[in-house]
Amino acid sequence: MSENDQFDVIVIGTGISGLATAVTASEKGLKVGIFSKSGDLEETNTYYAQGGIVGNGHEDSPELLSEDIIKAGDFLNSTEAVNLLSKTGPDLVDEYLVKKLGISFSRDSKGQLDLTREAVHSVRRIYHERDISGKAIEKGMLAYVKKLKGIQVFPFHMAIDLISSCHHSTDTQSRYGKNRIIGAYILNCETKSVNPVFAGAVVLATGGVGNLYLHSSNPSIATGDGIAMAYQAGASLINSEYVQFHPTTLYHRDAENFLISEAVRGEGAILINKKGEPFMERYNPSLKDLAPRDEVSRSIYMEMERCGSTYVYLDTPRMSVDIPKRFPGIYSKCLEVGLDITKEPIPVVPAAHYFCGGVKVDMDGQTTIPGLYAVGETACTGVHGANRLASISLLEGLVLGLRAGWSISQTHERPSLSMRRSIPQWIFPANEDKVDPVLIKSDVHTIQSLMWNYVGIIRSTKRLSRALSDLNYHSHRIDRFYRQAGLTRDLVELRNSVLAASVITNAAYNNKHSRGCHYIIRGDVPHENS
Ligand code: SIN
Repeated sequence: MSENDQFDVIVIGTGISGLATAVTASEKGLKVGIFSKSGDLEETNTYYAQGGIVGNGHEDSPELLSEDIIKAGDFLNSTEAVNLLSKTGPDLVDEYLVKKLGISFSRDSKGQLDLTREAVHSVRRIYHERDISGKAIEKGMLAYVKKLKGIQVFPFHMAIDLISSCHHSTDTQSRYGKNRIIGAYILNCETKSVNPVFAGAVVLATGGVGNLYLHSSNPSIATGDGIAMAYQAGASLINSEYVQFHPTTLYHRDAENFLISEAVRGEGAILINKKGEPFMERYNPSLKDLAPRDEVSRSIYMEMERCGSTYVYLDTPRMSVDIPKRFPGIYSKCLEVGLDITKEPIPVVPAAHYFCGGVKVDMDGQTTIPGLYAVGETACTGVHGANRLASISLLEGLVLGLRAGWSISQTHERPSLSMRRSIPQWIFPANEDKVDPVLIKSDVHTIQSLMWNYVGIIRSTKRLSRALSDLNYHSHRIDRFYRQAGLTRDLVELRNSVLAASVITNAAYNNKHSRGCHYIIRGDVPHENS
């Protein structure tokens, strides 16, 4: 790309939040570039969402939804963010997804939207397309994006670093001016060239951090890219200790990272241990299997320890719904590995699922650095508090994405030609080391193991302290390697993973109080957890 090749806004990532931002900005007349490290634009966390998206329930109200979000979030939520989401979100789902994009959600025999339920929701209010809700939304949004002439899409293009006016400009006076983000260095994953791409606003919509953990419900793209780039650029991050673990992913050697939706429990399945005994009543007598996710994941962990097993079961045959019709994705995946879930229970384990923290943003997705926005799972508005309520991640992605697009259309300012000319080209090392894929794979595995064991569902100061020193060692080594080697997507993901892992671990180490999905073993830190 030449120095004149610039956009009003560049969006990094193609999930619901990034696409909502891009569409809104484009409809306001802005020139938009969407960049995806993947060749398959659908490969996002959005695509794999099963449960659904919170819409308008019949006996619902913004107040009731707010209460549920705050209860799940262990009362650490931003009330401003919760109120905004509860008041505006469900109507935007109707207006935008149902009416404007025509996304099909499951309907009952009378043609009314079929509302489902998940943990902590006090009423049925979740719109779903069977158990492939994310797929329906992602496909619908991408189809719409393709119709918009003002949007250019760049698959196989990975953002590496943000360009900051103060730090990158070679013009001395810019160094003392107001810092702003004016673009990003982008790696063309096919040609391996790196170019600066300029824009009036850069939007991080890169999803979460699931792939930093050995067991995750996320696709492998979730390597904390936006978190790492924002951290490198000096943007504030918040609530990074709160990594949510989903209670139920399929435990089977031939099926990694496969989520078993919470809607399965919402529709009547219960957790049982290896002796076939229901156990959630012992851990949360009132909410039982529909207790907040953090509690259910911890209870499963404790029950597995108590029984000396490596998984528990989800008793699906007891459900009264037509399983193949209501949960076709889960039913067929399980059948593929030899399990008929209409007749036998599903072996399940908890796995890393959602990052409740992220890049600190206001209600328009604006970060603490002008010109830089973050939306969706990359961002933290505070709406999720210490533990996210089910089926509000797509909702937040939609609301924040739309708001960011509107806000950027009013405030963006393209960097001047002289500013663009003052930004150096990417400097490649004189003698590039060759990247050995085996070493990268092994480093990824090391990070995933230590995050799973030391910064997982149950933490302790000793475990976190071990994680910090191990990560410290690995991050120096990986950073040196990153600077000396020829860049590839895998290498940049590795650099991002170790940075994001360090951010999470530092936050967890510095917060001695158990809350929501950040849980420190009692007794490990005397007097601190009472
Ligand atoms: C699920 O279907 O259980 C996941 C829904 C969510 O994480 O919001």
